[in-house]
Amino acid sequence: MAEHAPHGTVASQRHDDILVLTIDHPPVNALSADVRRGLADAICAAQSDSGVRAIVLTGAGRNFIAGADIREFGKSPQPPALPDVCNAIEASAKPVIAALHGAVLGGGLEIALSAHYRIALAGARLGLPEVNLGLLPGAGGTQRTPRLIGAAAALDIMLSGRHASAKEALEWGLVDRIAAEPEARAAGIAYAQELLRQGAGPRPTRDATALQDRAAAQAAIDAARAQLQSRQRGLFSPSRIVDAAQAALDQPFDSGLQTERALFLQCLDSPQRAALVHAFFAERETAKAPETRHAQPRPLLRLGVVGGGTMGAGIAVAMLDAGLSVVMVEQHEEALARGRARVEQVYDLLVAKGRLDAAGKAERMARYTGATQYDALSDADLIVEAVFEDLDVKAAVFAELDRIAKPGAVLATNTSYLDVDRIAAATSRPADVLGLHFFSPANIMKLLEIVVAGRTSPDAVATGFELARRLRKTPVRAGVCDGFIGNRILAVYRQAADLMMEDGASPYDIDAAVRGFGYPMGPYQVADLAGGDIGWATRKRRAATRDPRLRYVQIADRLCERGWFGQKTGRGYYLYPDGARTGTPDPEVLAIIDAERQRAGIAPRPFSHEEIMRRYLAAMVNEAANVLREGIALRPLDIDVVFLSGYGFPRYRGGPMHYADQVGLARILADIREFAPQDPHFWQPSALLIELVESGRDFASLNRA
Ligand code: CAA
Repeated sequence: MAEHAPHGTVASQRHDDILVLTIDHPPVNALSADVRRGLADAICAAQSDSGVRAIVLTGAGRNFIAGADIREFGKSPQPPALPDVCNAIEASAKPVIAALHGAVLGGGLEIALSAHYRIALAGARLGLPEVNLGLLPGAGGTQRTPRLIGAAAALDIMLSGRHASAKEALEWGLVDRIAAEPEARAAGIAYAQELLRQGAGPRPTRDATALQDRAAAQAAIDAARAQLQSRQRGLFSPSRIVDAAQAALDQPFDSGLQTERALFLQCLDSPQRAALVHAFFAERETAKAPETRHAQPRPLLRLGVVGGGTMGAGIAVAMLDAGLSVVMVEQHEEALARGRARVEQVYDLLVAKGRLDAAGKAERMARYTGATQYDALSDADLIVEAVFEDLDVKAAVFAELDRIAKPGAVLATNTSYLDVDRIAAATSRPADVLGLHFFSPANIMKLLEIVVAGRTSPDAVATGFELARRLRKTPVRAGVCDGFIGNRILAVYRQAADLMMEDGASPYDIDAAVRGFGYPMGPYQVADLAGGDIGWATRKRRAATRDPRLRYVQIADRLCERGWFGQKTGRGYYLYPDGARTGTPDPEVLAIIDAERQRAGIAPRPFSHEEIMRRYLAAMVNEAANVLREGIALRPLDIDVVFLSGYGFPRYRGGPMHYADQVGLARILADIREFAPQDPHFWQPSALLIELVESGRDFASLNRA
């Protein structure tokens, strides 16, 4: 075995006549300029080294290569370009074998596709996730993948962005074999030795023949293009991916590469790419709240949930799915039986859909225990309270938890807007109390607001973040206020929507405008889905404390008085005949709205979709600025992540703060000032927004601060 001088982030090592190149660039071996240069130099040097007969590419650490270095996008490109590195690998006169493990993604898979042979460990995950970043595989991936595995499979992997298992990759022909060895380097060397014994030479992927059945390939491309309309929902890069696949079919390899390059650069320049890359890093940044750097999480083995309603059951499922043990406490046997049934129902549905087998359900339910006495929670490490949204009720629960919980247990409330400080005050240990605000359905929704009260200790906060990590949730740190980050801002832009509805826009116009912006649903569709009764109860409770200077739109109350709570009652803002899932507009609702306008003395006026969105977003951004100014959210990116992961804000627009920066804060402020004369109390520009505009800064500058 002979050592060669390492090429920076690419180490060269000889194993007899095999050169092993190991990419060693933590944390994920992203293809930064150093790595690209190291690879290109090493491949070049190997060509003239007569002692080298084959080259093995492998990655150090947990992954082969996770892709291009996302941090370099938008900066001036440094040579060598990745496509050139790939071409140099493919052109090697000596066989190149890629030995794959961990993440083999994006540019990492493109490197592997440029090698002549591929062997993967069973746990490797292969994918072309560029679409998730608003891009397309830009280093030959759109040309080599279809030639190697056919257009249908190539389009599947490129348009979905999903990570395929080694087994699936083998079935497609994306890899040649799955290794018997437990370690990629050894597997690569053994495979190289076998190939050399057989006299196997270079086998460039550009010559692969999976596109030979042209009719089948064209049919796959046509099918993908037909699906774009319904699936891409405003995304820019998917249609460019299909264009590139068409080029793979129609053009010789080298001109196909040029077409791919041109399409890649279009994507790179698009605001969607910038927004999606922002979202990628923002989601990783939110997981690093200050407390997670300075404090250690407490143990998390046994968990408790108080309350077996929809939220409590969903939270229990999320915990069981993460492999944790859960004790659910309800007031009496009947309620407990209902709670357990809700948990089982989730699994029964998955079993019926074939997404879970009976053994999987049994294994999860074996970790579930029900109890009607709080004492069953005495050895729990963390308890989440998910009972009725009422301060007195919650305070009573926390007094009980204080009595029975072991010292050091973290006590969490799932309240969506109540004062966590007051809940903590019901205990003798406020340092152990925090908010864990799950979103419904709690086992599916990614967002988890971690609400830090005045006296919450840093290690309790760190424990909340650790729980989020175990549950695969997206955690965002929030301070205490009515509604925390998400619901507080939501209340304001929902109010903006209600004001427009009373002033002349129909709920159907507003929903259509909001969908047109890229949301999966409009606010009135969401209201119908969630059920109008909950909001109605809240409004009644708050009626006495409502600010009399704020206009109060009563339309929702008129619908609720009729028992029209949305989907579950067959009608709300929309009609849902015979249990339909999609609603149809209801002329009676329009008549009720008209009557309300008359009662309020309002002459309706038309609203364009453009004006609807300007008002909706100005209200959202303005309240978000208030939330920032008050320190409820640490940074603008925390707000972006809340809205991307919990409220359906279109990901390709990067979240409300990123979007506001794109539009320009001066423009948003001008909108607010334009709207203000009609309703000065509602449209009060945030002091932070004014300050940023006056100093020529944007929200992004606060992310860096
Ligand atoms: N470039 C730069 N940094 C990256 C990166 C990349 N491609 N992928 C991950 N990182 C960074 C993360 O930002 C994070 O950094 P911090 O610790 O500073 O926050 C660190 O690596 C670890 O990442 P995760 O926290 O996500 O770690 P994980 O173990 O949970 O997941 C992963 C690992 C599956 C590789 C995941 O990071 C991932 O999916 N990465 C992105 C993969 C991707 O999209 N690749 C395609 C890139 S585009 C491309 O390649 C274009 C082309 O064709 C030319």
